[in-house]
Amino acid sequence: MRERYAVIGNPVTHSKSPQIHSAFARQTSQDIVYVRLAAPKGGFRAELDRFIAHGGRGLNVTVPFKQEAAAACTAVSERGKFAQAVNTLTFKDGKIVGDNTDGAGLLRDLEKNLHVGLHGRRVLILGAGGAARGVMMPLIARGVRMIVVANRDRSKAQALEERFGLFGNVRARGYDELAGNGYELIINATSASLQGVLPPVPGSVFAPDCVVYDMVYAAGGQTPFLQFARECGALITSDGLGMLVEQAAESFFIWRGVRPDTAPVLELLRAAGV
Ligand code: ATR
Repeated sequence: MRERYAVIGNPVTHSKSPQIHSAFARQTSQDIVYVRLAAPKGGFRAELDRFIAHGGRGLNVTVPFKQEAAAACTAVSERGKFAQAVNTLTFKDGKIVGDNTDGAGLLRDLEKNLHVGLHGRRVLILGAGGAARGVMMPLIARGVRMIVVANRDRSKAQALEERFGLFGNVRARGYDELAGNGYELIINATSASLQGVLPPVPGSVFAPDCVVYDMVYAAGGQTPFLQFARECGALITSDGLGMLVEQAAESFFIWRGVRPDTAPVLELLRAAGV
C-alpha cells in the first residue's frame, strides 16, 4: 500500500501542500499519497488518531492546530520546542514526533533562492504570533546583528524579547516606536496581508536597498505590504511562496530521507498563477 501523508488544518481546502508534495514525490520517485484533512475546531486529536489508525505516516499541520499538534507529540525537536509549535508530525513505532520546518524554510528561501546574506543584518519582524516565533531562533543562529519585534499588542512582542533575548539581541517595540530607524531586512509575519491590509509601519523603517519579505503568499507575488515597500525604496521584495515550498521540502526530507529540488516546483506554482 502507498504510504499516506496529509495536511491537517481548518480551513484547508486552499492548501497548496498536496500539489507540492505530489510534485516532490514524482520528482524523487517516491510512491506516496498526500491528501487534505479538514478537522473541525476541537476535533484535531480525533482526526489525528483516526489518521494514525489507518496507517498514516506523517502530517503537515497548519492553522489553527500547530500548538495542539505540539501538545500531542511524544517527542519534539529542538526547533519545535523553540517555536512552541510544530508543523510536521511523523508517526513511527507508536510514537508521534514533532518538528517545525517553517524557520528552515524561510532561511532557505532567503539564502538560496533570493541570495540574501543574514549575518550582521538589522532585522525588523512585524507580528509576534506563531509565525514570528517560528523564525526567531533560526535568524539568531545565523548571526543577525539585532531583531526588533513590532506588534500592535506590545506585550506579545515583549514576551518574544524575554524568551529569545537570552540567545541574541532582541527588542520589543510598538508600531508607534518604529519611526526614525531603518532596517536592512523586514519580515512581515502578521496575518494583515490575508485581510488585504497593511500593518501600520512608517515608511522610514525601509533602509535604502532593504530586503522585504511577506510570509503570506499571493497571486503574482503581490501583497499590499510589498507594494508599499517598493514605493519606499526596497531593493528585493518577496512573498512567502518560496518559504511554503521550502518548508514542505524540509518535511519531505524528514519523512522520506531525500531532498527534492524546489526550483521547478516553485516555477510550476508561479506558472499556475499562485
Ligand atoms: P500566526 O500564527 O500566523 O502568527 P497569530 O498567532 O494569530 O497567527 O498572530 C497573528 C499576528 O498578526 C499577530 O502578531 C497580530 O497582531 P496582534 O497580536 O497585535 O493582534 C498580527 N496582526 C493581525 N492583523 C494585523 C493587522 N491588520 N495589522 C498588524 N498586525 C496584525
